[in-house]
This record gives sequence, C-alpha cells and structure tokens, in this order.
Amino acid sequence: MEKPLTHHIRDDKRPLDLKEYEKVGGYEALRKVMKGMSPKAVQDLVKESNLRGRGGAGFATGLKWSFVPMDVPGPKYLIANADEMEPGTFKDRILLESTPHQLIEGMILSAYAIQADHSFVFLRWAYKTAAQAITQALREAYEAGYLGKNILGSGYNLEMHLHTGVGRYMCGEETALLNSLEGKRATPRAKPPFPQISGLFGKPTIVNNVETLCNIPHIVNKGSDWFRTLSRTTDTGTKIYGVSGKVKKPGAWELPLGVTMRELIEEYAGGMQDGVKFRGALPGGASTDFLVEEHLDVKMDYTHVAQAGSRLGTGTLIILDDKTCPVGFVQNMEHFFAQESCGFCTPCREGLPWVDKILASLDLGEGREEDLKLLDFHTKYLGPGNTFCALAPGAMEPLQSALKYFRKDFEQHVHDHRCPWKENGHR
Ligand code: NAI
Repeated sequence: MEKPLTHHIRDDKRPLDLKEYEKVGGYEALRKVMKGMSPKAVQDLVKESNLRGRGGAGFATGLKWSFVPMDVPGPKYLIANADEMEPGTFKDRILLESTPHQLIEGMILSAYAIQADHSFVFLRWAYKTAAQAITQALREAYEAGYLGKNILGSGYNLEMHLHTGVGRYMCGEETALLNSLEGKRATPRAKPPFPQISGLFGKPTIVNNVETLCNIPHIVNKGSDWFRTLSRTTDTGTKIYGVSGKVKKPGAWELPLGVTMRELIEEYAGGMQDGVKFRGALPGGASTDFLVEEHLDVKMDYTHVAQAGSRLGTGTLIILDDKTCPVGFVQNMEHFFAQESCGFCTPCREGLPWVDKILASLDLGEGREEDLKLLDFHTKYLGPGNTFCALAPGAMEPLQSALKYFRKDFEQHVHDHRCPWKENGHR
C-alpha cells in the first residue's frame, strides 16, 4: 500500500498537538511565506498546483482565490467549510480530529493569499471531538504567535474563530453557510455575485473545504511540481477516499488521485463481506450517480468519474450489495434530502417529499405502474437549472441512476406488490 503522502493522519484517537505538529514540519510553510512570499506568489503557486476543491464540486482553488478583488480596502474573510454532512462522508472529520494544526496552518496561508483579516472554522454541530481539538489548537497557535497581531513579525494580522453550526445539511452550501454565520436563516443566496466578490456581511469571502485547506502547507513547502506528481492522472494531488457498506474493512485512506474503484474496494476495504456481492456504488457521498460493475476499473478522479457518468464528489464510496434492496437504499437517501430541504424553493420543498413518499409506497408493495414515470419526471423536474441550489439536483443523482441501472428491481416491486429483499430477511 502506498503510504499517506501529505496529511499527518494518525491512527490513535489523540490529535497532534503543537509540538508534535512542529516536529513533522508544521508551521514551516507559514514561516517561509511570512519571511517574504507575496500573497500573489502564494496564489500563483496554488494555481500552478492545479489543486481542485475537495468538498465535492472540484472547483480550481487558485482560480477561486484569484476572483477576490485585492485592491478593495476593508475586511475580507476566509472560511473553512467543516460542516461535513454529506451522507457516507467522514474524511474531514479525520483531519479535524487528528491534525487540527494542519488545518489552521492551511487557513492562515490561504487567508494571507487573499489578505483576509478574519477567518472562521464553520464546524458541523455533531463533531464534538473535533471542536475540542480545534479549540485547543487555536489556543496553542495564538500563544505561539501564529495567529493574532503581527504574525511572526510580518505585520500580517489574522483572527480565527470556531463557529459550530446547527446540524443542518443546508449550512454546508456556501451561501447558506454565510447566512447562518450572519445569524440569519440558512437559505442559499443567488449566485452571482459569488462569495469571492460579495460574501460574509457583503465582503469578499473565500469558502474552502477542510481537505482542500489541509493541502496548502504541503504545496507551499514542497512546491506545485511535487503536488502534480502525487496523482496517477492529470487531476493532481491525493484524496482521502473512504468506503462504507458491506465490505470487510470500511475506512478511509489518503491515496493518489486516480486509484480505481476496484483497488479501493478489494485492496483497501478488504473486499466484499462473505456471502454478499457488489452491485454498485455512489462514488462521492449520497448526491452522486451510481457506478456499477462495468465501472470498477474507472480511475477515481474528477475527470474519469465524470466520463463514467457520475461525479467524484467527496470521494467516499457508499456500496450497494446484492442483499440490500436498491429501492429501500435510495428511499433512505431521498428521505434524508426531503428532511434537509430548506424549503426556500418550491420544486425542492414539494418535490423531494413526494419522491420520498413514492419510494416508500414502492417499498411497502403499494406502488403503481405510473409511479416509475412520476419518479422519472421528478429526476428532470428537480434537476439542474430548476431549483435554487444544488441540493435537489444532487438528490436526484442516486435516483436517476438507480432507475437506469436497477430499473428491473423497481418494476418488480410494482408488479409483485412486495419487496423481495424484505421477504428474504434482508433489507
Ligand atoms: P458549485 O459548483 O456551485 O461551486 C463550487 C465552488 O466553486 C464554490 O465555492 C463557488 O463559489 C465556486 N464557483 C463555481 N462557479 C463559479 C464561477 N463561475 N465563478 C466563481 N466561483 C465559482 O458547487 P456547490 O453548490 O458549492 O457544491 C456542490 C457540491 O457540494 C456537490 O458536488 C456535493 O458533492 C458537495 N457537497 C458536499 C458536502 C460535504 O459534506 N462535503 C455536503 C453537501 C454537498
């Protein structure tokens, strides 16, 4: 197995404290930048590295930073999106709990690159252990002079705050996150203007995912060429991949971008459990399209997964096996999305509960012929361009691909008026 390549992920439950982090090269990147790298030079380095956002959308990080107007006076903000709530996704949690200083250093460097003076960790409410680790690490970073006024004598000032969310999926959407941070209801805002121009309190703001930010110290230390060579494909760097479902060893591993789904399942997750077979997988959390057996050798990067008809998303696979009903599996997801709709736009507010109800009736053996057509209709009606944000289109991805790959199972529920899996003692 290839060794973890960048992140300082440890196996025990204790986070790396300041001394331990410094021992493995922690805050060297910050010293290097504060000694004489300009904000523009940091931006250019990250652009050259071709780092893409690890939150799910894969937008180019350096490009995003470059949209911040540097000549406008007044406050600017940098926010770490640590509101990890995508079902099946637990990669940021590992970074937050095991190496909080790596995130803090990444945030200081990123804030410096856009000349932000305030920064926030917007943390998922349920991540209590991470909250403790970050609180302790912030204290240590302030005491060491890595945060606050005149950082390492450079004249650069940065304050950093921990803000815990309220446990809503919607708060992870960057503009809903901004509203939530401002103390308003967490509904999304219209884009454009993008937060880079008008974000928190109407000021230029960058929102980056935790894993994205954790890459920055390493890119600064080792360079963009090094970062580009880490992956197996043209999408650069590493990824924290995860596998959940009926595999022998569910877990998460930092690996070069471009490992195949087969390697992840068979080599890292130990293969499927005895007596169950692989049927499909959502490659990047619940809001991605199923990949199936024919895709097992697809390289798990942004480009190849998109070519296969899905998205890399968060890179954390949720496996569907042959002892689990695909209708029930998808209903579970749609129930979650229906609950988490913020209710702001009509198609999402009304459509998702309808989809949830149709799937529940299929599951109970009460489905009708026309229900499959209704589900097909919703995958378009709630698709891209018809809703205010990406929540409902994301929710339609597992459904539309399940209707494509597992349609016979849906039809069987209608024709037989029962769920065959339940009868066989499975679910
Ligand atoms: P998006 O593609 O609209 O935006 C991604 C980022 O790129 C944003 O920061 C946005 O400001 C920037 N951006 C995009 N187009 C731009 C443009 N033309 N000009 C300037 N900046 C631009 O995607 P969104 O809605 O932010 O995120 C959706 C993704 O989030 C989904 O792919 C899903 O996989 C993921 N997700 C992850 C969760 C998690 O827990 N990690 C939870 C929920 C969703």
